[in-house]
Amino acid sequence: MARAIVYTEIGSPDVLHLTEVPDPLAGPGEIVVRIEAAGVNPIDAKIRGGRRPSPPITEPRPVGFDGAGVVDQVGDGVEGFAVGDRVAIRDAHGTYASALLVRPENLALLPDAVTAAEGAGIGIPAGTAYQVLRSLAVGPDDVLLVHAGSGAVGQAAVQFAVAWGATVIATASPSRHAQLRELGAIPVAYGDGLLERVRDAAPSDVTVVFDGAGTDEAIEVSLALVADRDRIGTIVRGPDAASFGIRAFSGGSPVPLTDEEQAWRAEALPKTIELLASGDFVIELGPELPLAEAARAHELVEAHVAGKIVLLP
Ligand SMILES: NC(=O)c1ccc[n+]([C@@H]2O[C@H](COP(=O)([O-])OP(=O)(O)OC[C@H]3O[C@@H](n4cnc5c(N)ncnc54)[C@H](OP(=O)(O)O)[C@@H]3O)[C@@H](O)[C@H]2O)c1
Repeated sequence: MARAIVYTEIGSPDVLHLTEVPDPLAGPGEIVVRIEAAGVNPIDAKIRGGRRPSPPITEPRPVGFDGAGVVDQVGDGVEGFAVGDRVAIRDAHGTYASALLVRPENLALLPDAVTAAEGAGIGIPAGTAYQVLRSLAVGPDDVLLVHAGSGAVGQAAVQFAVAWGATVIATASPSRHAQLRELGAIPVAYGDGLLERVRDAAPSDVTVVFDGAGTDEAIEVSLALVADRDRIGTIVRGPDAASFGIRAFSGGSPVPLTDEEQAWRAEALPKTIELLASGDFVIELGPELPLAEAARAHELVEAHVAGKIVLLP
């Protein structure tokens, strides 16, 4: 039997429990991955806690979109993957498990230079960062403000934008500023006086904003800095972004991602793996917990603990 984290009701982290499930079997066009690390994302906790709408739960619901592991079975007709390959997983359904059935389009090969924990930390954070920066057409002439620059998405956004030649200002707690400087950003503390601090730190006018914080402060400061609201994007304030005239990408937005945006999110997985392997990208790792401690992992992600939290089956 395989092991998986599931829940049967919306609620606090302790609705998550470990259960045994039948070993997955790869049918045509499918792959079974033995999971070595599952990436924990804020969205996992938001869905579990009912802070993002989800369909009624009619059977035990698996958890987790991101992961990494080793190919264990390859179904008929699958090309490009073989038993024993190390892979990273994105946009899957239930990576908090010891083994999982996935489609090959949700996998990318993982070279030895990239750890399973790093591989499990790519999917949502790097995919979101890459897509939003592409949607906002961030380039070398831009001064970009990233709210929540120290988060998993924020750090990915900082690194892509710096690599694409933009000047990047990133908000974070002071204890995270050294990390952001190393990634090439100009750090500023969020909180009272943010607008003035950003104006003082920016070498010229801010031209584009990536909001990964979703606070009223982040929205107000963004509106005060950038007149062109098409160049303010949020990944958190989807439900009310339209009332400010700004753009939202998922995060509760009623407007679905376009096919092009979905494709950018997918494309980010192999691109980020390549950058990690060459030492040109960093994923800050956080606590590693056994699979059975998924509830604790959700408490930690809800407390914004530093670094990517991973579960180890
Ligand atoms: N729409 C989408 O497709 C999408 C995709 C991925 C994530 N998201 C959402 O984006 C957000 C960030 O995700 P993540 O994975 O990067 O989370 P994370 O790694 O947990 O990081 C959260 C960050 O928020 C920062 N923060 C906390 N309070 C803040 C405040 N008042 N003002 C500004 N920043 C503050 C923290 O900074 P310090 O530690 O420096 O205090 C922390 O670095 C989450 O809400 C997540 O659900 C949306």
